[in-house]
Order: sequence, then C-alpha cells, then structure tokens
Amino acid sequence: MTSFKRHRTLRSTPWIRDLISESSLSPKDFILPLFITNENEPVYGASSTANITRHSFKSALSTLEQAIKLGIKAVFLFPVIPNDCKNNTGSHALEENLLVQFLNVAKEYKFPLSFCVDIALDPYTNHGHDGIIQSHGDTFYVDNDATNETLAQMAVHFARAGADVLCPSDMMDGRIDEFKKAFSAANLHSKAVFSYAAKYASCLYGPFRQMVGAKKLQGLEDKKTYQMDPRNSNEALSEISHDEQEGADALIIKPGLAYLDILAKAHQKTTLPLLAYQVSGEYAMIKLAAKEGVFSEQDAFLETAYAFKRAGARSIITYAALELAQWVNTTQI
Ligand code: PBG
Repeated sequence: MTSFKRHRTLRSTPWIRDLISESSLSPKDFILPLFITNENEPVYGASSTANITRHSFKSALSTLEQAIKLGIKAVFLFPVIPNDCKNNTGSHALEENLLVQFLNVAKEYKFPLSFCVDIALDPYTNHGHDGIIQSHGDTFYVDNDATNETLAQMAVHFARAGADVLCPSDMMDGRIDEFKKAFSAANLHSKAVFSYAAKYASCLYGPFRQMVGAKKLQGLEDKKTYQMDPRNSNEALSEISHDEQEGADALIIKPGLAYLDILAKAHQKTTLPLLAYQVSGEYAMIKLAAKEGVFSEQDAFLETAYAFKRAGARSIITYAALELAQWVNTTQI
C-alpha cells in the first residue's frame, strides 16, 4: 500500500465530485402521495405532526398539474373516507368510493402521469386494520385468506377505474398471486403490482393514520400479527423472494431511512426494481427539526433521497416529492 494516495483529490472541486458521483436524482425518481377527500376545500397541515394536505378534488387536480410541470411522472393516491362509509369489512373499498370517482375525473384530463393506488382496507374499516377481522372466542385476528379475496377484488376495481399500479400494503400472505390471477381473468394484463414486500410494524406511520382516520386501532391494538418485526432482517429477504416468485413487478421497502439495511440487502438479492417509501413520520421528523432550526430542510431531504438511491432504490415515494423535484431542477448539488 502506498502512503502517497490522497482521497481528497477526488473531492477537491465541484466538477470532480460531480464526475465521480455514483448516484443522481431526477424528478422522475419521485412519487408523490396525495390524500384525497370529498370535501370542497383542501385542509393544509391536516396532520398535526407534519404539514401534509388533505386535498379536495380541485386542489388535487391542480397539484397534479404542478407535479407534471416539475417533471414528476407518478402519484400515489390515498382516500380519506368519511366515518359513515366505514364498516367492519371495509366494503366501501369495492364501491363507487371517492377514490374511484377521483380517478374517473383525473383520467378525463389525460395527464401524463401514472396513478398508483394503495390496496389495503384500513382507510375503509371502522377498526383501522388492513384486513377482515374475525374472532376465536375473545381473541381477534386478521383473516388472511378472506382479506386476500377482498383485496384482489379491490385491485381489479381500482385497475378498472384507471389506476395503473396497484400496491398491496396489507402484508397478507399470498396476495400477489391472487391479484395476478384476478388481473388475468379480467384481462388487465398491463396493470402493475408494486408490492410492499418488506413493511415493518412501525411507529413512523403515525401522521398517515391520523390522516386516514385509522389512528385508534380496535380489536387488535397493533398490526404486529401482519406487519414485520423491526428486530428482523432475514424475514424481509424471505418476504422479498416470495413476492418475486408470486410475480410482483416491483418491490417497496418501508419505512425508508430506518430500514436502509433492508433496502441494501434487497438490492443484492433481487433484480426487481426497488422503491423506498419515506413514510409520513420520517417526513414529519425532517419538517419539525428543520422548523426548529436543527438543519436545512432542503439539505435533509436531498441527503436522505441520495441515501435511498445509494442503497439501491430506483424510485422514492415521498411527501416531499414536489420540493425535491424543484430542488433537483434548480440546484447544483
Ligand atoms: C395502509 C398504509 C399505511 C401506510 C401506507 N399504507 C399505514 C399502515 O400500514 O398502518 C403508511 C404510510 C405513511 O406513513 O406515510 N396499510
């Protein structure tokens, strides 16, 4: 080993740093999640821990236009379902609900955007769980196979309404098989399934649950019987290969920053495209810390976005997608 090697040579000017950089960001890398309501006016800062917006159809449509101008290519839609439409089985998911209506309206505009829809029952159930709850005596459980049947119908329902990408976020076993079988029977061959392959039982979903009104879980008090244990990583690799075998088109790892190791391991293991989901609590942490002057919001979002790219993500689902697209369009990093 020579002692004359200087690592700082390759850091000495902006040009040489750019030349050798291993990852890059572009607006097409970001997918913007949007919460849609049937209210007439948007509510800005609807979640108390982060300034996430609850959109009216009108404000959502103008946000889509803004996203297109910035170079974003896809959005992720979540519904805020009124309480009186929720029930024990989440059956409103299979009806002409507000997300189906929104997709119908949005498709009229022929936006150059892909629409991803989350497939899970929690925005539609009165107990806030992702699936159908049954009980053995006084023990409650989420019924895997009954849930899968409903989720596959839900995926077909939203695909027919115009969703391009269906994203099961429920962590039931075998759901992708069911989706693919149902798509084949319904002649929906070009609809993609991006599965949340490794989704952990995380406290970082707090602001999201507040938004969709699933904050207080009933029956089972947490989602630990279906979402993954934060202590494990081998289990994630097993989930990832199973989803790949079932025919998932891409895989989502979630949350993002606290599970970068899982993303990096998944990148070693699969050839499928990977997406990192910077979830609502991660977004809130950065927003709140920046507001307190701990660091610059722009620097923190860009640094974490690079971390996802470096670890192997092809794309990033983030509530900061608009700002990030703006920054990568205008800023020399
Ligand atoms: C629904 C779902 C959740 C998130 C995405 N899809 C909540 C949960 O699983 O409890 C969380 C996303 C976020 O926090 O931004 N199953």
